[in-house]
Amino acid sequence: MLSYKDGVLHLDGRSLKNLVGEAETPFFLFSEAQLRDNYAALEHGLSQAGGPATIRYCAKTNNEAGVLRILASCGSDVMTSHPAEVQLALQCGFPPERIAYQRPVLKVHEVENVLEAGTTFVHAYRQEDLEVLDKVATRLGKEIRVSLRVRNDSFYLRLSPLNLLSRRLGFQETEIDAAVKRIVASQHLKLYALNYYCGTQQESTTSFQGLMRTVVRICVKIKTRFGIAPGEINFGGGIPSHSLNRMRLPRLWDRTGDQLEGLDSALALERFGRALAGQFIQEAHKAGLDPLPAVAAEPGRSIVSNAGVLLTRVHALEGNWAFLDASHNYLGESVLFFRRRIFPLVSAAGQRQQYYHLSGNTLNTMDVLDLRRRLPPLNPADVLCFADAGAYTISRASRYAGLSPAVYMLQRDGAMRMIRRPEEFSDLAGPMTILDGEGSPRV
Ligand SMILES: Cc1ncc(COP(=O)(O)O)c(C=O)c1O
Repeated sequence: MLSYKDGVLHLDGRSLKNLVGEAETPFFLFSEAQLRDNYAALEHGLSQAGGPATIRYCAKTNNEAGVLRILASCGSDVMTSHPAEVQLALQCGFPPERIAYQRPVLKVHEVENVLEAGTTFVHAYRQEDLEVLDKVATRLGKEIRVSLRVRNDSFYLRLSPLNLLSRRLGFQETEIDAAVKRIVASQHLKLYALNYYCGTQQESTTSFQGLMRTVVRICVKIKTRFGIAPGEINFGGGIPSHSLNRMRLPRLWDRTGDQLEGLDSALALERFGRALAGQFIQEAHKAGLDPLPAVAAEPGRSIVSNAGVLLTRVHALEGNWAFLDASHNYLGESVLFFRRRIFPLVSAAGQRQQYYHLSGNTLNTMDVLDLRRRLPPLNPADVLCFADAGAYTISRASRYAGLSPAVYMLQRDGAMRMIRRPEEFSDLAGPMTILDGEGSPRV
């Protein structure tokens, strides 16, 4: 957790000024304690639905081995998005039965790969996926637990352009019957769960309600028509990080600096999980769904976002622009969507503040890390700390006009350990074939 002590920013009680002295900026720094607290808070909140809840951490949000290893040791399940990520999850200590797999279109060779690695839990998005799963499962003589992704069709969610795009994914309610029939007809597929996804950083549980209601209704229909009941309902991701704000116009004109006080994000997360679980119990009771299926969620942001910060140094100042040594390449979510808190490493009480635009370090016109941020007067070499930098950052990094920085983990014993080295020439050129003058690969 971030806090100021004697005007110096601390993470989990350790002075960031000292930690920045140990590593070259820019770098990401993760807090093991915050990761574990977030996991425990959400698991505890969601368990209020009656039984233990499954947290299936969505690895694409941040698939650093150092992060996955900690979540595996917390007892988390993991959702993977491609075969290499399955291998990574295995190496980080997730047992195969706690690894799930999903992709918008399932391909035979990929499913083979995943099944051979020991995973037997797959999300299906389309009727054709079920054919692929049945074919591979039959060939390998394995049983696959299937979770059907229910399409996000609710009216409210149609109002957002991002959610409009997500409507291409999953089964419509009217297609579920045929999907269940196909599963029932297979000797190797088992209907295990229903899942949905209502978009990231939903600041209120009511955003989950429409889809939750649809999924509960589908569950009851399946039970009535086929005599089987999915054993799990998966609320998907979308659970927010409470220290991150969606961008709203008034926030652009905000005349105050960012505040650290008064936010216990783990407590807020637990409350959110508890409210979601309560909402689910209500919907299930209303629809006559008894017994209750187990509850699962597939969170990404709520687990890792505020467990990570990015430390970056001011390179130069030009008018209102501060040029930083970090880049939009690995802090890619648009400043038009989200407003991260940004803190100076050293802050003096009562200091006047001024507006800065924050530029990244690549020659990309879009490499802007924020606009109109109120900060104390900056000088070259000052360090800024971007909070909520753990989700969709390093896992989405690009090498456009620059390489990615190091990642460190602040362990519970207070030690800072490098979990990813800064990228170098070999990372840029590694996958390339560089030819010599004769056109043969250089060795
Ligand atoms: C299918 C699915 N599940 C879970 C997640 C994680 O979402 P969040 O980070 O909002 O928790 C995502 C993110 O894109 C997703 O596509």
